[in-house]
Amino acid sequence: MLPRVILHNAVSLDGRIDGFPIDLQQYYELVSTWKEDATLAGSDTFLKAESEAPPEDDSSLLPPRIDPDDRRPILAVPDSRGRIRSWHYLKSLPYWRGFVALCSRSTPQEYLRYLKERHIDIIIAGEDHVDLRAALLELYSRYGVRVVRVDAGGTLNGLLLSQGLVNEVSVLVYPCLVGGSQESGKGGKGGSGIFVAPGQPAAHSPTSSREIISLKLLATEQLKGDVIWLRYEVLSNADP
Ligand SMILES: NC(=O)c1ccc[n+]([C@@H]2O[C@H](COP(=O)([O-])OP(=O)(O)OC[C@H]3O[C@@H](n4cnc5c(N)ncnc54)[C@H](OP(=O)(O)O)[C@@H]3O)[C@@H](O)[C@H]2O)c1
Repeated sequence: MLPRVILHNAVSLDGRIDGFPIDLQQYYELVSTWKEDATLAGSDTFLKAESEAPPEDDSSLLPPRIDPDDRRPILAVPDSRGRIRSWHYLKSLPYWRGFVALCSRSTPQEYLRYLKERHIDIIIAGEDHVDLRAALLELYSRYGVRVVRVDAGGTLNGLLLSQGLVNEVSVLVYPCLVGGSQESGKGGKGGSGIFVAPGQPAAHSPTSSREIISLKLLATEQLKGDVIWLRYEVLSNADP
């Protein structure tokens, strides 16, 4: 079985996810809405934050203490190239009770050893990049994950949406316009939009209904700071 998957993003009125200040307290307070069993986050976010991580000490090699009453979610991160070296820091944060690196058969063996030494669980799915559907199925069967909240940028959002794996899209629309080119994005690869679909046609190309993902409005709410919270159910998927 697949878990229910919710994308939750703060966006500018022109659909950008970077380049404007986000009220993180408000953003994360709303997360309790879904009672998530797992957070699925993109590796680039953590690579950006790697400079905040303190140096690792021997405590990161100790086995984790298991508390059956711990209701916090687990953190799962697709990292097929084995780039994240700040798991010790992520483990020290209060948000998650467990940690899973989503890897593929091309992930370097040295990285898998690094993870095992630190008691980070591993799911191997896919050949090159992580097979996201297979990884979600494994999260469900191995850990009983029924609800996944995705905390990611446009690439991971787009992959999940275009593979028909998303059930709900939640956006906090900020009263600002960031501007910039949709094609190049701020990172130079079109990554700052909320939804970067693989093979997405250029803005001027004719669009067929097949390429559009239809949504049904679930709820709207005006929040502090003129932020509008919109929740949509995904009706049809690009790749059912
Ligand atoms: N405003 C908001 O609400 C919000 C929320 C979260 C993040 N962000 C911003 O979004 C930006 C990037 O976010 P992000 O780290 O989530 O990264 P992202 O750029 O959306 O996606 C990168 C993730 O997708 C995986 N991936 C890439 N190609 C793949 C493929 N073909 N198959 C399977 N997986 C694939 C990568 O795994 P591999 O490493 O294995 O390639 C990586 O984990 C950051 O600048 C962050 O600040 C904004």
